Amino acid sequence: MSDKTFYITTAIDYPNGKPHMGHAYEKVVTDCYARWYEFLGRDTYFLTGTDENGQKLMESAKTAGKETLEFVDENVAVFRKFCDDLKIRHDDFIRTTEKRHQDVSKDIWKKLEANEDLYFGKYSGLYCLSCENFYTELQAPEGVCPHHNIPLELKEEDGFFFRLSKYQDWILNHIKTNPEFIVPKSSRSEIVSRLEKEEIRDVAFSRPNQGWGIPVPGKEDDFVMYTWCDALVNYYSALVSNNLQDKYWPADVHVIGKDIVWFHCVIWPCMLHAAGIPLPKQVYVHGMILAADGKKMSKSLGNVIDPYSMLDKYPLDSFKYYLLRGIPAQSDGAFSEQELIDKHNNELGNDFGNLIMRVVKLSLKNIPPEISGTGVTQDLSFEDCFTKMKEHMEKREHNKALDVLWESVNRVNQYVNEKEPWKLKTDPEALTPVIYNCVFGIQSLALLLEPFLPETAKKTVSYLGSSSESFNDLKFGETHYKLETPEALFPKIES
Ligand code: MSP
Repeated sequence: MSDKTFYITTAIDYPNGKPHMGHAYEKVVTDCYARWYEFLGRDTYFLTGTDENGQKLMESAKTAGKETLEFVDENVAVFRKFCDDLKIRHDDFIRTTEKRHQDVSKDIWKKLEANEDLYFGKYSGLYCLSCENFYTELQAPEGVCPHHNIPLELKEEDGFFFRLSKYQDWILNHIKTNPEFIVPKSSRSEIVSRLEKEEIRDVAFSRPNQGWGIPVPGKEDDFVMYTWCDALVNYYSALVSNNLQDKYWPADVHVIGKDIVWFHCVIWPCMLHAAGIPLPKQVYVHGMILAADGKKMSKSLGNVIDPYSMLDKYPLDSFKYYLLRGIPAQSDGAFSEQELIDKHNNELGNDFGNLIMRVVKLSLKNIPPEISGTGVTQDLSFEDCFTKMKEHMEKREHNKALDVLWESVNRVNQYVNEKEPWKLKTDPEALTPVIYNCVFGIQSLALLLEPFLPETAKKTVSYLGSSSESFNDLKFGETHYKLETPEALFPKIES
């Protein structure tokens, strides 16, 4: 591990149905950070995958009238394709039913056991099958799941427990002394407050073996690991199975949603600490995508928007752009198709797409396609924009990074309006420096946009025929161009 590498993960999804908008959001956001750090020159590793050992999957398979493995295999194929359809640049896709994951999970179990952090006992509590989680009376005073709004089930089981209570003070101290460990502040405050107010109970870490899950070492016939106990290990097992742990562990960022903060910010670090493994540097908690009416998307309310219904209608990059800029990076956001269309038409189409059309077409009509910058005075610079974007990305505020980038898009547009190059058509000596400034601007913007909208960036750059490929290589005056006729990148959508 070093500052030269960057290891980022999404949560692993339950493949008990089709991927939904929340899955799309998390993957697109994580992809953008992976690409950003790659853009900054870090050797980046991006992991995603599926969480397959839960009891819920057994039940869902039964309802579908299928064998659990057959059911899971079919759905996992859909999740993999979803990553491909979203053009996510992940390096690995881990399935928790894979042997490589099971082996590492068992090793960690044994380490916890050797450290006397596991013991056998009886558990009684209120359980939600959808979350695969027990709730305390404080969290669910009405006996209803706070996330799924369904009645909790009373469960009494013998099994193994993880001594989470032993680490309460340690984890509280870790979170307090490492302010970057949980981002944003609101999530950190919630966890700190719970750790300060509640007496933390030990966690049930096994379930009776019903033929599905990872068998508990030494008790294979009777118990399987609690699904969260093995699921969290995926972030580590994926590396170990490829012998990459020395290079990439500890993870730089785990990207997760609001509903699973406790598992990632308390249980997971305590497991790692107990097993003698370094902790991830950060857990970034994004908000939830809500339905247009501001309510949680739910089948019963009939307000669910299938991500494929958007991908069928709109360009992939318009969908990504809307998710990245239209939904706040650190709080919940309602998904609005109209806003997606507006952003496509106005920001992508008018501000960005038209800028390229106007400049490149005007230039090709009036001067040769080769544009040299020798002797041209620099009117526009993008270093400041880059610095501000870096600051926002470092703070996990990708929407603000795009706001800053768009200020620059607007500045180049404003420059075109001020310089009125269409009035210089007959004066190539006056026209060329203006065009050069604009084209240099367009390339700078496209390269800064690449981590967010890779396809758009690639197409834009392909129209410029630039002698420099990366943002760092760009040198005003030295970089030269050979323009080609552009196509409309974001044709107008009628709502
Ligand atoms: N399997 C667990 C995670 C285990 S990680 C070791 C799980 N799976 S999930 O399929 O329910 O959710 C996967 C991710 O999607 C989680 O980070 C979750 O918070 C996120 N989202 C689920 N619904 C969401 C929205 N409506 N909006 C944004 N993200 C949401 O939890």
